[in-house]
Amino acid sequence: MAYGARIILAAVTTIAYWASVAALNVTIKQNVSFAPAELPAPYAASNCDEIVELFSRLGRSTVWNLVEKVPFEGDTYEPEGIVRIGNNRYFVSAGEYTSKTVKYGNNVVINGTDRTAGSGFAHMIVFDDKGKRIADATLTERGAIEYHNGGIDYDGEFIWATIAQYRPNTTATLMRIDPHTLEPTVILHIADHEGGVVHDTRTDSLVMLNWGSRNASTWRMHDKPAPYPSFTTFHAKRNPSYYIDYQDCKYLGHPRAFDQRGIMICSGVTSLNSTITIGGVALVDIETMIPVAEVPITISSDLGAAITTNPMDVTVVDGRLRFYFLPDQHNSTLYVFEAEPNSPFEFGGGPQ
Ligand SMILES: *[C@@H]1O[C@H](CO)[C@@H](O)[C@H](O)[C@H]1NC(C)=O
Ligand SMILES: *[C@@H]1O[C@H](CO)[C@@H](O)[C@H](O)[C@H]1NC(C)=O
Ligand SMILES: *[C@@H]1O[C@H](CO)[C@@H](O)[C@H](O)[C@H]1NC(C)=O
Ligand SMILES: *[C@@H]1O[C@H](CO)[C@@H](O)[C@H](O)[C@H]1NC(C)=O
Ligand SMILES: *[C@@H]1O[C@H](CO)[C@@H](O)[C@H](O)[C@H]1NC(C)=O
Ligand SMILES: *[C@@H]1O[C@H](CO)[C@@H](O)[C@H](O)[C@H]1NC(C)=O
Ligand SMILES: *[C@@H]1O[C@H](CO)[C@@H](O)[C@H](O)[C@H]1NC(C)=O
Repeated sequence: MAYGARIILAAVTTIAYWASVAALNVTIKQNVSFAPAELPAPYAASNCDEIVELFSRLGRSTVWNLVEKVPFEGDTYEPEGIVRIGNNRYFVSAGEYTSKTVKYGNNVVINGTDRTAGSGFAHMIVFDDKGKRIADATLTERGAIEYHNGGIDYDGEFIWATIAQYRPNTTATLMRIDPHTLEPTVILHIADHEGGVVHDTRTDSLVMLNWGSRNASTWRMHDKPAPYPSFTTFHAKRNPSYYIDYQDCKYLGHPRAFDQRGIMICSGVTSLNSTITIGGVALVDIETMIPVAEVPITISSDLGAAITTNPMDVTVVDGRLRFYFLPDQHNSTLYVFEAEPNSPFEFGGGPQ
């Protein structure tokens, strides 16, 4: 540890029950600021129309060129989401599991869920562009039942996260995290597991995706949430696509190409059986959850994980669509891929 500094910051908030739900314990590895002093615009949302246009040229035969592989220093636990803030900071949401969840049995459901709570900590880890660790924050207290930090989004001011029980159909807390301090602020409590969130800054809505991204629950920021820990009620919108389960999504905007509808970009995987895992990326209508474009990606990490497992961020560099993936647990490598612009035209794989 370069500096050995360990700071415990007292959380200051007007929201009651704070102490029981969120805690901040930051281990500092480099004595540098976590985020640029002047927070930059999010890469995904500031390249919306270009990303949508470049995405429309992708297909099954797209050639993906590896731009860079960056080993991330230290234990990354289970990385769930990533946002790149400026050109030399990566923020990674991750779950540390100190005891495993255990399935009740085959198709056994107790109190609406199928396994024990397990235990662990929700993390937010900051890395520089060389993969060197800057800080590791635990956002939950020892013994907290909600410790799974899911997919994240960055809106130019805050990082949005859902910290949930690590089992389906349970509970989650929507938080926003200050990139300068890593300090979390609790927004609301929801009676479902939520595994990811995006902030539609035009409608000022937070859209949370539950276990397997089967449902979306939307909170409009002008609606007052129920006081924590009471649950804010939602009308969940069913996701009609079973092609992949979305894991990490970024708000793109309301692009012209899709009639100004709110669109997010999502990566994900699904296991169809114990040997077949498919991965891909999709543009998804935030309001209806209908995918408007989707493309499989069959690349694996050097350790064998589908490249689209969990964290994904996106940008455009010199007119090329560039993805950032962090698929492996514990010992993670950032994989940066660009879509080859002159990939062969896609005829499809069916009978010709
Ligand atoms: C803070 O985090 C470190 C590293 O995860 C851990 O060892 C320590 O026990 C934590 N301290 C508190 C007060 O939670
Ligand atoms: C960190 O850097 C600041 C100035 O950049 C300095 O004032 C402070 O003493 C440093 N802290 C440690 C622990 O080195
Ligand atoms: C189910 O909920 C009841 C009532 O809250 C509780 O007493 C019981 O321990 C729960 N069962 C399990 C297995 O968590
Ligand atoms: C979720 O759990 C509640 C009880 O806690 C139950 O009423 C509901 O049917 C469950 N929903 C699903 C989709 O399993
Ligand atoms: C999704 O939401 C619908 C209501 O729109 C509900 O009936 C269903 O049980 C939910 N499914 C899951 C898996 O949460
Ligand atoms: C998975 O599905 C494939 C294709 O249907 C099949 O060949 C394979 O045997 C299946 N594996 C298992 C473990 O069921
Ligand atoms: C991570 O993987 C690299 C490359 O395989 C290896 O050199 C390194 O020792 C591993 N680190 C840990 C902490 O396992």
